[in-house]
Amino acid sequence: MIRYVRLFVLVLILSSCSPQPKLVKEKWFPNPNGESELALTMRDMYDAMKEMKFRLDQDKKVKSIPNFDNLLTATPTGLSMKKESFDAFANSWLNSLEKMNTNSLKNQKENYRNLVNTCIGCHDQSCPGPIKRIVKLKLSSVKD
Ligand code: HEC
Repeated sequence: MIRYVRLFVLVLILSSCSPQPKLVKEKWFPNPNGESELALTMRDMYDAMKEMKFRLDQDKKVKSIPNFDNLLTATPTGLSMKKESFDAFANSWLNSLEKMNTNSLKNQKENYRNLVNTCIGCHDQSCPGPIKRIVKLKLSSVKD
């Protein structure tokens, strides 16, 4: 009997140690200058992307696609932050987001990759600071 109890305890210990993927939420620190509508939208976009990556990295399809139509109209911290290319990048990003509504995991991964690249593209032009953080959103299986 005691053998079985030991075995049971062992199984319990082993199963609790098996790696369970966990979604770790990003920590956003308050900006001393206050957060603009656009900056808050960006944080939501980042969080949404992180959730998508979490599923795709486990080869699970993304089921609910959030809506970020306010990306085009949200007010930035300063008008100079919105460069001429802003709308083109924003529309391209929203287009790829729309395409996440597909049934194929492969297409979702491809669109997700486009999303990350467009985040980086727009930031390259208007606000390079967050790029280091955005790069971390790349899928684990995608190296480029
Ligand atoms: C169309 C251009 C554009 C695209 C696409 C874009 N960004 Fe941004 N992002 C900006 C601009 C401009 C700011 C500065 C906003 C401000 O300070 O008002 C910003 C700010 C940020 C910030 C800083 C927010 C803060 O707390 O101040 C983060 C993080 C961020 N973006 C992440 C992302 C991620 C992740 C994506 C893709 C999912 C993305 N961005 C796509 C233009 C873009």
